[in-house]
Order: sequence, then structure tokens, then C-alpha cells
Amino acid sequence: MAEWMDLTGKVIIVTGGSRGIGEHVVKILRRNNATVIVADLTPNPDYESDENILFINCNVAKKDSVDAMVKEVIDKYGKIDGLLNNAGVSRPRLLVDFYGEKPEYELSEDDFDFMVSINQKGVFLCSQAVARHMIKQKNGVIVNMSSEAGMQGSKGQSCYSGTKGAVLSYTMSWAKELGPFNIRVVGVAPSINERTPMNDDAAFAALAYTRGQDPNNVSSDYEKVIPMGRAGKLDEVADLICYLLSDRASYISGTTINISGAKSTR
Ligand SMILES: NC(=O)c1ccc[n+]([C@@H]2O[C@H](COP(=O)([O-])OP(=O)(O)OC[C@H]3O[C@@H](n4cnc5c(N)ncnc54)[C@H](O)[C@@H]3O)[C@@H](O)[C@H]2O)c1
Repeated sequence: MAEWMDLTGKVIIVTGGSRGIGEHVVKILRRNNATVIVADLTPNPDYESDENILFINCNVAKKDSVDAMVKEVIDKYGKIDGLLNNAGVSRPRLLVDFYGEKPEYELSEDDFDFMVSINQKGVFLCSQAVARHMIKQKNGVIVNMSSEAGMQGSKGQSCYSGTKGAVLSYTMSWAKELGPFNIRVVGVAPSINERTPMNDDAAFAALAYTRGQDPNNVSSDYEKVIPMGRAGKLDEVADLICYLLSDRASYISGTTINISGAKSTR
């Protein structure tokens, strides 16, 4: 019997699909029978035994790399049904190091260029390359990873927040541009979740410094401020994304959905 969220025959690209939230998305897409292309800088060896997962080495911040990835997908499968713009990076940084102890945690030009090139330019490059084909197909869905930080700002993460706010705006604008071609564009804004490599100890230490907190207590402090009393599970975020990529979400476009256990309320 077909699954409720049946994705049989769908060809879906997941950028940054090798680990973290992306890995959970790939798992759920496969459970629902989609063909998945993982566009990432590093492969995930667990995927090698699955002939319906294709890994393509791709740097989303480089146009040549993105165009080559999309060409390979079209040459092999002839179409693209979905794109998840998931690849993203974060470097917690203060605008000004007003504590005066760790200048390395003050936002530098290199930090700015690094985050903007992947989180913002990468989303533009991948969406443009894929939308060219979706327009011809008159069908498709693009899901963009925003963040609570992009909706509400975040102390110690202004640049990251800025990139995620930009993603939120791209979602609204591209949904208006591409809607007439039967292409949906939707955003997802997670808040605090089970830890991923993005939130490793080094990132926690940097974030704690920017917030004047003890690095060892940041996680438990976070959980106190989530009304549902716990961090989100990566599968919960992935379930939402897979739903939005499916035809079950056929009239949802132009919005960014908050998934935060009520921590963010818009
Ligand atoms: N983890 C969270 O709690 C959280 C919360 C809100 C939003 N997000 C967003 O969700 C997305 C995934 O986050 P995550 O925590 O799973 O991150 P992660 O660091 O665990 O995984 C990110 C993946 O992206 C890949 N990647 C990085 N730079 C790339 C590039 N230039 N080209 C191609 N691939 C690249 C990495 O290799 C990695 O596989 C990000 O966009 C992030 O901003 C995460």
C-alpha cells in the first residue's frame, strides 16, 4: 500500500544532505520512496549501498559547481521535482567584542563572506539553476532552510540571522515569481534542536562567550526558554520538510513555517 506521503518517482535534491538535519531528511525521503540527490562537500558512506541516493560533490557557493550538479541530475533523471536548500554554516560572532577578551569572536569580513556565500548566495545559485528546469516542467517545489534567528534576530548571531532573514525574503519573492509556473517555494524556520555538527562544542563555546554565559550551561539554559520544555528532534524538522516537498502540501507556498515548540510565535 502506498504511504500517505508517497514520493515514488520524485527526484529531490538535498543540499548539505550528508549529515545533521539533511541526513534525517534524506532518510525520510527514502522511506517514502523518493530518488534523492545529495549535493554536499563530503559524502556519507551510509548512502553508498542505496542505489536511489546519488551523491554529487558540490559547493553551493560556487556557480560552476552548482550548475554542474544540476546538469548531472537532469542528464541522469530528466527532471527535478524538489530542491531543499539545506546546506548552511554558522559562526557565532559579536558585532563588537565589548567583553574585550576574545577578538576572534568579533565578526570579521572573512566570517561575513563565509556565511553569506553559503547561506545566502548558495540558496540563490541552487534555486536559480533548478528553477530554470522547473519552469519548463511547469512543476516543482523549493524548500529553503531559514531559522528562528532569521525571523527574530539572535544575540551573537547577527550575520547568520541576516542570511536567514534574507532566505525568508527570497522565499516570499520567489513564490510570487514562480507561482504562475506551478512551482511552490516554502521556508522552514527551526529553533533549538538536538545537536548537529553545526552546534559542536566549538560553536557552543563561541555562542556562550557572545552571550556572557558559561559554555557548559548553554544547552540547559536553552531548554528553560522553550515552552514545550525540550529541544526539537531532527526527525520532527525533517518530517515537516518532507511534507512540504510532497504533493500533500500542494497549496502551501510563499510562507516560512516556524517549528520551535512555541519558542518563536510567528
Ligand atoms: N541545527 C539547528 O538547530 C538549526 C536550526 C535552525 C536552522 N538550521 C539550518 O538547517 C540547515 C542544516 O543545519 P545542520 O545543523 O544540519 O548543519 P550541519 O553542519 O550539521 O550540516 C550542514 C551540511 O551542509 C554541508 N555544507 C556546508 N557548506 C557547504 C557548501 N558550501 N556546499 C555544500 N554543502 C555544504 C556540510 O558538509 C554538512 O553536511 C542549515 O541551513 C542551518 O542554518 C539548523
